[in-house]
Amino acid sequence: MSRNFLQKLFVLISVLSLALFSVQASAEKNSKIGQLPAMGWNSWNTFDCDVDEQMIREMADAMVESGMKDAGYEYINIDDCWHGERDQDGNIQVSKEHFPSGMKALADYVHSKGLKLGIYSDAGNTTCAGRPGSRGYEYQDAKTYADWGIDYLKYDWCDTDKLNPEGAYTTMRDALHATGRPILYSICEWGDNQPWEWATDIGHSWRISGDIYPCWDCGYSWGSWSSWGVLKILDMRKDLNLRQYAKHGQWNDMDMMEVGNGMTAAEDRSHFSLWAMLNSPLIAGNDLRNMSKQTLDILTNKDIIALNQDAAGVQAMRYIDAGDLNVFVKPLMNGDWAFLFLNRGDDILTVNHDWQFNIVKDDLTGRSIDFNKQTFGYKGLWKSFSGDTSQPLQLNIPAHDVVVLRLTPKG
Ligand code: GLA
Repeated sequence: MSRNFLQKLFVLISVLSLALFSVQASAEKNSKIGQLPAMGWNSWNTFDCDVDEQMIREMADAMVESGMKDAGYEYINIDDCWHGERDQDGNIQVSKEHFPSGMKALADYVHSKGLKLGIYSDAGNTTCAGRPGSRGYEYQDAKTYADWGIDYLKYDWCDTDKLNPEGAYTTMRDALHATGRPILYSICEWGDNQPWEWATDIGHSWRISGDIYPCWDCGYSWGSWSSWGVLKILDMRKDLNLRQYAKHGQWNDMDMMEVGNGMTAAEDRSHFSLWAMLNSPLIAGNDLRNMSKQTLDILTNKDIIALNQDAAGVQAMRYIDAGDLNVFVKPLMNGDWAFLFLNRGDDILTVNHDWQFNIVKDDLTGRSIDFNKQTFGYKGLWKSFSGDTSQPLQLNIPAHDVVVLRLTPKG
């Protein structure tokens, strides 16, 4: 064999192995995490910009001591305003005043509690509260987060000018991927550019609305933008059949919860049940250190959480939409189903639901129920009661409240 031939062969093998390597290393989102909707806590709804390391540590303690961790909550997420300035080399730093021990020490603490730490940044030049954004620093910031031991990134969309959203969110996905650390990627673009159409391979979830506000059916104006109550978010993308985009590792995010932040018990129950049924991430937004027993009982209702975390990963459909009455239906693993009866109105609502006249057909999963051919037993997941679908169901649902049932095939 000539020396020339061997040289050519060597070059060819090098090129081929490089190509193979770059295919393997091509960026993708981490598919080992976020397969079910994330569960955790986030600072924004209660603390706004008032975040510091002591409070975050206390929140991690409270998540464990309250029993929330045992109920499945995992992430402690710091939202906007943890930032200091960039250093001379462009590395993002924490606010030394509010996080004097540094983010790595905080992550170590949170990890020592068996929990994970989340952080917040923005695709633009500045975050929504005017802190340094990641635009132009994506790889550097992602590496910094990984070095700190961060497990979750919420990535916002303020100050993005004419940035292309798909491109901007892909860049940060690739930057996270390049760190080699599993970091759950939560897209916060408010649904302005229909992320459900392009983000399914980019993020583990995407916001579908502007910010939530702790009220039932209000809009709260901040001038140039508004925040939205529970029903407003529930109805915002009603005609888009968003459930078709929700699958393992890709969820519609209805925003962080306002349970315990001033609504009535009925409203909190409905809010929590709806977010669970719709497979939204369940991210609490109240002060876990001093919540009432009522708030804790809602946030840790294991039967409702089981609907959200059901392995089938199917988002509920709006099955009946009749004025004050909405019924949501969710196919579950092993032939079970969940039914949620919502009273949107301000007065008690009497419902006579004759199962036999209400055949269910889910085009998305191909599953259906004909109650004339099959009887299901059911149990209430808030108030404890049971029955079966051979008899009509009569309910009196208080204003703004829900009845949630889990149906299991009989025999
Ligand atoms: C945006 C987001 C909120 C929150 C704030 C922080 O409004 O939608 O969830 O992160 O920014 O400034």
